[in-house]
Amino acid sequence: MSQVHVTRRYRFCAAHRLNTDLLSPEENWAVFGKCNNPNGHGHNYVALVTVKSGMLLGASDLDRLDQVVNERIVERFDHRDLNGDPAFTALTTTGENLVKVIWDILELGLPAGSLQKVGVIETRDNYFEYAGAQ
Ligand code: NI
Repeated sequence: MSQVHVTRRYRFCAAHRLNTDLLSPEENWAVFGKCNNPNGHGHNYVALVTVKSGMLLGASDLDRLDQVVNERIVERFDHRDLNGDPAFTALTTTGENLVKVIWDILELGLPAGSLQKVGVIETRDNYFEYAGAQ
């Protein structure tokens, strides 16, 4: 049986600072470089959300997906400081962690088995992708 996947693109702008309390200030700077700047910096993030076609609510599949992603991801993170979000209390706000946080949030909000992949474009050259625990 063939299965079609559909991917929708969402955008949010957010600030962050790469820093971990597990390292000294010098070590943080060595690991994260300019992303450790104490004043933080922002990104125009793009989230690419891939689901199995036909598994949500029929004709309104994409409306339903838009509603879930907008309510749970875009409204939560847009124009916020990611370091202040409860999801990152114990996590550094790297793209690797962000894509997994988004996956975990969406997996709870979408019908079981429908979410296939989440991608996060952080910068022109940095793209992170997660498809759940394998
Ligand atoms: Ni950054």
